[in-house]
Amino acid sequence: MEVCEKKILVTGASGFIGSALSRKLLKLGATVYAVSRRDINTDDEIIWYKGDLSSLDFVTSLIKEIQPDYIYHLASHVCGSREYKNMIPTFNDNFVTAFNLLLTVHKYPVKRLILAGSFEEINSHKDLSIPSSPYAAAKFAALNYALLFHKLYKTPVCIASLYMVYGPGQKDLTKLIPYVTLSTLKKKTPKLTSGNRNVDWVYVDDVVSALIKMHNAPNIDGHSIDIGSGASIKTKNIVTNLVNSINPSIEPHFGALDDRKMEQEKIANVVETYKKIGWKPTTSLKEGLLNTVKYYSNFAYSLFLVIY
Ligand SMILES: NC(=O)c1ccc[n+]([C@@H]2O[C@H](COP(=O)([O-])OP(=O)(O)OC[C@H]3O[C@@H](n4cnc5c(N)ncnc54)[C@H](OP(=O)(O)O)[C@@H]3O)[C@@H](O)[C@H]2O)c1
Repeated sequence: MEVCEKKILVTGASGFIGSALSRKLLKLGATVYAVSRRDINTDDEIIWYKGDLSSLDFVTSLIKEIQPDYIYHLASHVCGSREYKNMIPTFNDNFVTAFNLLLTVHKYPVKRLILAGSFEEINSHKDLSIPSSPYAAAKFAALNYALLFHKLYKTPVCIASLYMVYGPGQKDLTKLIPYVTLSTLKKKTPKLTSGNRNVDWVYVDDVVSALIKMHNAPNIDGHSIDIGSGASIKTKNIVTNLVNSINPSIEPHFGALDDRKMEQEKIANVVETYKKIGWKPTTSLKEGLLNTVKYYSNFAYSLFLVIY
């Protein structure tokens, strides 16, 4: 995939998708630089920097020093909650971080800046101008600025509009798949919303392949590319499949929690994505869930969360 000998900066590399992407880029021979707000030591060759990307001074010194060929911006406060307390972290970590990178690559150019967007960005309800959450609003603002930078200054930026990503290594254990998997492994009833939302789930390794395709796909600057499976499944069905594959005696409690307002129900346009970057997902939901359950079984076992 021609990333060898390239200098690639991955933000959010301590997170779910960023860590999988960084590992893959290393395997492909890239020199991988990563950022976290914490001290991180990994036993691979990733070159870590510590800092907060919502500081323009930090971003400027980082890019000036590394002079990356490509940047994948995956750092984010990934939380779709509608609560007021999410306003500031979602604004800073999703919008300000992306804006700082756009400002900085204008001064210190890169071959391409790839921003992680989200299917949550645009509301499919009647009032198109109202995002569904603080997270969605911040992502949408970042997307709009990216398009503006591209239009005004020809900034080589594109957006990977990610659908719901699942798979081994998701560190936020409150997210649906890790939560249901670990609850079931612990023989506890998962407490859920109605489960009526239809969601397009995409496996993390497929997302990584798509992101790598995006670094040098021609003519995609100024575009948002859908990265999803192209099919949706009702939350109730994915949860039931998952629980039955682990322990069919557990019955998930649907309706224990309120549904969120203005939930998005969208399906990735994978035909368009294939035309633009020559990628389509290859992992079936069945295979992806199996890998995920295996991963969390080992994870739970290693933490003594489950007594076999
Ligand atoms: N997971 C999904 O289903 C999904 C769906 C659609 C879109 N996306 C997008 O894909 C990207 C990656 O998602 P993910 O699930 O991998 O996220 P994640 O596991 O929560 O990782 C995000 C990382 O961002 C870093 N970060 C946050 N704010 C930062 C800041 N101000 N400065 C520096 N680093 C910061 C955090 O690292 P430290 O705490 O170590 O600093 C964290 O590890 C995000 O942009 C997200 O919005 C994800």
